[in-house]
Amino acid sequence: MTTPTTTSDLNPTAADSGRSATATFAQKERDAAPVDSARVSTVARAALAALHEVIREHQLTYAEYDALKAWLIRVGDDGEWPLFLDVFVEHVVEEVVHADRRGAVGTIEGPYYVPGSPEFAGEATLPMRDGEPGTPLTFQGTVTDLDGTPVDGAVVDLWQADADGYYSRFAPGIPEWNLRGTIRTGADGRYTFHTIAPAPYQIPTDGATGALITAAGWHAWRPAHLHLKVTASGTLPVTTQLYFDGGEHIADDVAQAVKPELILRPTPAASGNGVEVTYDFRLDPA
Ligand code: DHB
Ligand code: FE
Repeated sequence: MTTPTTTSDLNPTAADSGRSATATFAQKERDAAPVDSARVSTVARAALAALHEVIREHQLTYAEYDALKAWLIRVGDDGEWPLFLDVFVEHVVEEVVHADRRGAVGTIEGPYYVPGSPEFAGEATLPMRDGEPGTPLTFQGTVTDLDGTPVDGAVVDLWQADADGYYSRFAPGIPEWNLRGTIRTGADGRYTFHTIAPAPYQIPTDGATGALITAAGWHAWRPAHLHLKVTASGTLPVTTQLYFDGGEHIADDVAQAVKPELILRPTPAASGNGVEVTYDFRLDPA
């Protein structure tokens, strides 16, 4: 006999998504290259010096130092280091690393990418549930090199939240690859995804990151977005997000990851069903 599913079983918690994000990151980190000790010394010394300066400038008290320690411990206990770092730190890493790019504009990856989503050739309806809520969205375009020549065999990997702002694999009760899929382009470089428009995403409010946001009186929202990774041989991969013109929190993303080049302006679909938008990726040479 199976146990009936109750609403509380399906209630997503920060600790659930935090644990999943931490486990996903641990898998990626196992493949990482070893680090150089002189570089560790330089960067760690500079980071600590910056923190010492904050303590002096703001005359930290012992009560505040202990609150900081308790909060740092809680971030780890909640498995929220990937979430916290990707919201508050990653956008500057992305800016520094990709400063020389001439083609497609990138932004943060965030904690919810999972490699290996179902693959399609040229056109795909993303895996979704029967009656998946949300406005139907056709998202299409061409992958080219910097000169505009279509790239054959480019891989466009898309992942997104559902209309409630939840990601499959990180919130309970959602099928494994829901709203995740990969298209391999043909010689015309074209891709077409049929999906639904995502909803704004709220950083989990019941975990350590949410506790900081609440204590500071900030808001916890990111504008609705599609996540993409585009890769092709001979080019630099791009990881980005696309947003929707006029969407809530476009101008005050808690993760500071919106750029003007990344805002889509969908129009009513020619089919009469939902909306459609075209976005081309020009890839930098490797
Ligand atoms: C976080 C979630 C996202 O969907 C995203 O794009 C970036 C960050 C987060 O919860 O940390
Ligand atoms: Fe996201």
